[in-house]
Amino acid sequence: MAGRIPDNFIDELLTRIDIVDVIEQRVPLRKAGRDYSARCPFHDERSPSFTVSPAKQFFHCFGCGAHGSAIKFLMDYDRLEFVDAVEELATRAGLTVPYEGGNKRAPQTSSDSGDLYTLMDASAKFYQRELPRSEKACAYFASRGLDADTITRFGLGFAPDEWGALKSALGTTPPRLALLEKGGMLINGEKGSTYDRFRDRVMFPIHDRRGRVIAFGGRVLGDGTPKYLNSPETPLFHKGQQLFALWHVRQANAKIARLIVVEGYMDVIALFQHGITQAVATLGTATTREHAELLFRNSADVFFCFDGDRAGRSAAWRAVESVLPRMRDGRQAFFLFLPDGEDPDSLVRTEGTPGFEQRLANATPLSEFFFAHQESETNLGTTDGRSRLAEKCKALIESIPDGAFKDRMQEVLVEKTAISWPGLARTHHAVRDGAQALLEDRVLIAKGETPDGIYKPAPQRMEKSLRSGARAPERSLVRSAITTLVQQPACAMAIQPPTIFAALRQPGIPLLVELITLCRARPDISTGAVLEHFSERSEAAALRKLAVEEIPGDAEMTCAIFLETLGKLNRQTEHQRRDELQKKSTESSLSADEMHELRALLNNRNNNPAGAK
Ligand code: UTP
Ligand code: MN
Repeated sequence: MAGRIPDNFIDELLTRIDIVDVIEQRVPLRKAGRDYSARCPFHDERSPSFTVSPAKQFFHCFGCGAHGSAIKFLMDYDRLEFVDAVEELATRAGLTVPYEGGNKRAPQTSSDSGDLYTLMDASAKFYQRELPRSEKACAYFASRGLDADTITRFGLGFAPDEWGALKSALGTTPPRLALLEKGGMLINGEKGSTYDRFRDRVMFPIHDRRGRVIAFGGRVLGDGTPKYLNSPETPLFHKGQQLFALWHVRQANAKIARLIVVEGYMDVIALFQHGITQAVATLGTATTREHAELLFRNSADVFFCFDGDRAGRSAAWRAVESVLPRMRDGRQAFFLFLPDGEDPDSLVRTEGTPGFEQRLANATPLSEFFFAHQESETNLGTTDGRSRLAEKCKALIESIPDGAFKDRMQEVLVEKTAISWPGLARTHHAVRDGAQALLEDRVLIAKGETPDGIYKPAPQRMEKSLRSGARAPERSLVRSAITTLVQQPACAMAIQPPTIFAALRQPGIPLLVELITLCRARPDISTGAVLEHFSERSEAAALRKLAVEEIPGDAEMTCAIFLETLGKLNRQTEHQRRDELQKKSTESSLSADEMHELRALLNNRNNNPAGAK
C-alpha cells in the first residue's frame, strides 16, 4: 500500500499551482470579470456556464454542478485517481509528494518504472506481431466470433509455444531481463534460469487508466488448465484496483452514462463488438471497495452481471458489501443475474444487443437485491425473525454514506421489521452534524418532517438574509459564517477573542470551529484547498454548495458581517448558558462558581439585550 499524503502537503500544493493554468491547458477559457468562463467540459451545452475562479482556486458549473479544486478537475477531466492527480500537479510545481507511513510510491515516477512500462508495451507489440503468424490462434479468435477491428482495438495477440520466445526477443540485456522478470513476464525457474510465463496462449493486454499496458491475461486455445493465466502482482499491476477495459470504455465514450461489470475478458470484448461499449471486468477477483470507488468515479450508474447460480449470488453479495459504503447520493447500482450456463458473451451472441439491453433494463436495483438476499434467510412472520433481520441489516446500512439512499434503506427496514428502532432512525440525523444538516433541513421541512425534534428550524425565516434586518434564526447564523469562511478563508484571520461560540450546542458549530482552526493555520488557504481538505468527509457536498452561494456585497463587507455574526453567536452562547444555569438553579442548587457566572451573565444581558445587533 502506498502511504498517505499529508493534508498540509495538499494545501501547499494547491497554493503553489494556479487552477486557471491547469484548466486552460485543457479547456479554452475566456476572461469574464474576475473569473474565467467556458463551455462546460463535463456536459453538453451551448452557452458557457462553467466558471473558474482564480481568487477561490475553484471551478464550478452552474449547469451540471461539477465543481472542485485543481485536483478534482484533473480527477474528473483526465480521469485520474486522487494520488495520480496530486503527482501530476506536484510535478508541475516542482514538488516531491511525501507519503506518510506505507512505502514510497515507487512506480510512477522512477525511471525504472518508466522502462518497465516501455517493456510491457513492447511485450504487447511482440504478441500482436505473433498473432498473424499463428494459424491456430487466428482460428481460435475467429471461432469466438471476433472481427479484425475488435482484435486491434483490444490489442489481442498470441504467445508462441516456446520457452523463450519473448525472453530472447526482448530480454537482450541483463537490465532488460531483470525488468521482464519484475513485470511478471518471465518465471524464475530452478538454478536461476528464467523462461516465458505465457506460452501457447492467446493474449489479452491489461491497460491502466492512462492506457499503458501493465499486465496480461493469457487463455489456452483449447481446454487446458488454467484456462486463463494472469500476470502476478507487480509494481505496476494490483488486480484488486484494476478493471479490464476501463481505458477502452473511456476511449469509446465521451461521457460514460453507465458501466457494466462482467466477469470475463471475453464478455467485455463480445459486448464491445456488439456496440455495448461500457463493459469492464474485474480480473478474476471479487469486487473490492477500490473497484467500487473506481466504478462510481467514472459513472453514476453501475450494473453488475453475475451468474444466476449460488456462486453468482454470493459473489453478488460480496459486491454489495463493497458498494454500500460508496453509495453516495446520485449513484445507483443494479444487479443482473444471468440464466444458468450463460455469460454476457453467449447471451449477446444469441439474443443480440436489444436482448442484452432488455436484460439490463430489467436489472434488480441494489436495494431490492439487498433485502431479498437478507430476507431469504429470515422468517418475517415472527418477531424474532424480524429483529434478526434488523440486526443483520443494521451495520450494512450504517456503512452507507449519509443521504437520501441511506434514509430510504432505513425506512424500508423499519417498514419490513415493524421495529421502530431507536438507535436506527435517529443515528444518522444525530451524526449528520454541521453543514450537511444545515442544508438538508430544508428538504425535511418541505416533506413536512422534523428531524427527530433535534432541531427546531424556522423554514420561512431561514431564507432571509442577515442583512434583511429581521432577526435571523440561530441556524442560519452558523450557516452564514461557514459560507463566508469557505468563500473567503482569510476572514478567519480577523477573528478576535473571545470565541465563546465554540461552546454553543448547535448543529454546525463543530464544523465552524474546525474551519476557523484550519483557515487560521493556513493564512493563504484558498476555497479550493478548503474543499479538498474536506473532500473525504460527509460534509463535503454541503460545503461545495456553500462555496458557490452568492454573497452580496464586497469582500470587506462580507468580512465585517462575518465578525458580527460571530458576535451574535457569542451572545447566543451566553443565553444558552444563562438559561441552563437558571434552569439548574430552580431544580437544584448552584455552586459558588456557577452562581458567580450566572450573575455575570445576567448583568451582561442588561447591557446587551437579546437580539441586539
Ligand atoms: P470464466 O471461466 O467464466 O471464463 O472466467 P470466460 O470469461 O467465460 O472465458 P471463456 O468465455 O471460456 O473464454 C471468468 C474470468 O475469470 C478469470 C478470468 O479473468 C476470466 O475472464 N479466470 C478464469 C482466471 O483468471 N483464471 C481461470 O483459470 C479462469
Ligand atoms: Mn465465456
